[in-house]
Amino acid sequence: MTVASDAAAAFRAQFGTEPAGLWAAPGRVNLIGEHTDYNDGFVLPFALPQCTVAAVGPAPAGEWTVCSTATDGDPVSFGPTEPGEVTGWAGYPAGIVWALRDAGFDVPGARIALASEVPVGSGLSSSAALESSVLTALVDLGGLDLPVDRRPALAQRAENVYVGAPTGILDQSASIRCQAGRALFLDCRSLEVEQIPFDLAAEGLAILVVNSNAPHQHVDGEYGARRKSCEEAARILGVPALRDVPLEGLADALAKLDDDVMRRRVRHIVTEDQRVLDTVALLRAGRTREIGPLLTASHVSMRDDFEITVAQVDVAVEAALEAGAYGARMTGGGFGGCVLALIDADRAAGTTAAVEAAYAGRSFTPPTSWIATAGPGATKL
Ligand code: GLA
Repeated sequence: MTVASDAAAAFRAQFGTEPAGLWAAPGRVNLIGEHTDYNDGFVLPFALPQCTVAAVGPAPAGEWTVCSTATDGDPVSFGPTEPGEVTGWAGYPAGIVWALRDAGFDVPGARIALASEVPVGSGLSSSAALESSVLTALVDLGGLDLPVDRRPALAQRAENVYVGAPTGILDQSASIRCQAGRALFLDCRSLEVEQIPFDLAAEGLAILVVNSNAPHQHVDGEYGARRKSCEEAARILGVPALRDVPLEGLADALAKLDDDVMRRRVRHIVTEDQRVLDTVALLRAGRTREIGPLLTASHVSMRDDFEITVAQVDVAVEAALEAGAYGARMTGGGFGGCVLALIDADRAAGTTAAVEAAYAGRSFTPPTSWIATAGPGATKL
């Protein structure tokens, strides 16, 4: 893994000694279940083979220093801090240290060198990969008693409270709990998981990921606005979260909401939860090709009801479908980012060419495409 040797080399260059170990955590794509996580609903991500690697070694108690191959800047050192004190990329590791300490753990001092191959700003969870690599390293290094199933919520807390991004638990769960060759069916309320076999190559299928390379715009404000609208709708409907509106009760629920925008937000969440459950049922039954229409319906719902897509991702989805994909959808939080398409494995080149041709006909930055396989979750290398 080049990224592992990069992290180790950065550690040696910065700290003049060998790291105690290397810890890797992956980015993710979400197969289906978008914006359902903070509505206590269902998601189905799988981990990418692309990882962030933390090369870590001990430091005196109460002292942490982080450096990254992604920046030319000086390393950042901090002691115990309060939320928001360390900003920028170093806020993520500082947030992890804070969240662990706040949960009562005796976090070991550490020197940390980071290297990453997860594209930043593409909706593939580069920040969760960073958080999860550092969290896994500190837990191992300090021998902390923090079971794997409790780690995503702690990393999410670092992101919500320390960094100040109001995200759900999808990304950290994927980075920490996914397994190679499986998709992770997660109930975001109970935090129970089922590892769903997801070996597409064995069926002659593949997931093509297309990075739209569209500039991410308005992400923070729009994400927060969606979340607020969902929470407000749940309050009006008198349920703890939109997860509690069953599909059979959707028409009644919508009739109780005056605001058309809010109605469409609710319709996306309620139908999306059902699409995750339907996708899981089909995968369990080995009927993988049949999930295609659910993926495409998810995209249409995100485009028309949740309004989180941009022209570049819509064009990529349409081009992939025209090229014969079984289904295609944007993956991740939205406003740019990546599209995934379920295709016959031998049609990767043709589908890629079709998307590129559709982009070339418009004034879009060319896309970047690759086949994504389901890799392992966070681990010591
Ligand atoms: C971002 C957030 C996740 C989730 C997705 C949308 O990736 O970090 O918590 O809400 O958007 O599904």
